[in-house]
Amino acid sequence: LAPSAAYFDHNATTPVDPRVAEVMVEWLGVRHGNPSSAHRYGQAAREAIESARAEVARLLHAAPREVVFMASGTEANNAVLRALFEDFGGHLVLSGFEHPSIETTGSFLAARGVDVARVPPGPHGCVEAGDLLAQVRPDTRLVALMLANNELGTVQPVEEVARRCRDLGVPVLCDAVQAAGKVAVDVVALGVDYLTVGAHKFHGPLGAAALWLRRGARFAPLLLGGSQESRVRAGTENVPAIVGFGRAAALAAEELEDRSRRLARLRDRFEAAVLREIPGVVVHGVASPRLPNTSSVRFAGIDAHALLIRLDLRGYAVSTGAACASGVVEPSRTLAALRLSAAEARGTARLSFGITNTEAEVDSFLPVLAQEVGALRHGAGGAAIASTRVAARSVA
Ligand SMILES: Cc1ncc(COP(=O)(O)O)c(C=O)c1O
Repeated sequence: LAPSAAYFDHNATTPVDPRVAEVMVEWLGVRHGNPSSAHRYGQAAREAIESARAEVARLLHAAPREVVFMASGTEANNAVLRALFEDFGGHLVLSGFEHPSIETTGSFLAARGVDVARVPPGPHGCVEAGDLLAQVRPDTRLVALMLANNELGTVQPVEEVARRCRDLGVPVLCDAVQAAGKVAVDVVALGVDYLTVGAHKFHGPLGAAALWLRRGARFAPLLLGGSQESRVRAGTENVPAIVGFGRAAALAAEELEDRSRRLARLRDRFEAAVLREIPGVVVHGVASPRLPNTSSVRFAGIDAHALLIRLDLRGYAVSTGAACASGVVEPSRTLAALRLSAAEARGTARLSFGITNTEAEVDSFLPVLAQEVGALRHGAGGAAIASTRVAARSVA
């Protein structure tokens, strides 16, 4: 195995920023306390999570009291859907390429009697607001539309959907897990009712996420127990992770413009080079607004999973648009929703850049990528390598 060369899979998860780790370490050693305890240890922990809440709120242009800490984006998305369809009745409208934490919960609800409408995106990776709104009925309880798609990076017309849903009295859930920390996320401007974010997508730790709830929005807790998080989410708060989340949010807010510019530069450099140097390449979603860091690239005539394995052996981490379970590579729902053929979907790889990537990494990657794509196209053992390792299901 070659030594690690570069990590281009930041939409799966990001390395913790050392400035984030520094504040977390304090709460993993010297400092400790249960924020519900009345003594000084508890009060210090309470202060730490309240200042983290203020930072997360600032990143979202929200009021701190509207931010509820949870353990993951998955939990936050589940919590909203389960709360609004507690009695398994009514109608739910989803985009056809929501993250599995929403999509699978939608299927769970559908199996119990909720009527679920799924609206596919158009060929450029964006859902038409009008298509979503056309599905809204008098018994619609929620419309769910992600801010940025995790596989394509395309930014969805959430503001327009929310504005029109507000007139219809239908609440909107916006999964902003991939968008936060990469583009501005403003709950007031978006006009949604529920919004979810997770720390590990922008250089914070795993184990800390947040649900923003508009004041007065309907909700029922998923977890029952103590009175933490204003009785909205029971369980002792994960203080070190929340403290890290707060720091990551503060840094993202401060550095957003600079990060966004640098990420777009890396992405554009990569895309220009891959289109110039490798034949038979299509970049998805270029006609749509996109996250600055995400590139979904289709290589004609290859299996991107085999490419992923070959690149990993050379030290480069990318991901595929395919979910690989039980040794069978199935096209992802997102790529299927784009109406790509199975072969086209199988040939799609995702590169997601991060703030620690450099132009030199992109430049040294290109010849390796060209070599491996060429080897796969000319049958140099690609299939054999692909069958030796089965990656875990990749849906981040
Ligand atoms: C768009 C989107 N929503 C939700 C999630 C789930 O977040 P988490 O990994 O915190 O459960 C992810 C990431 O995997 C994502 O990309």
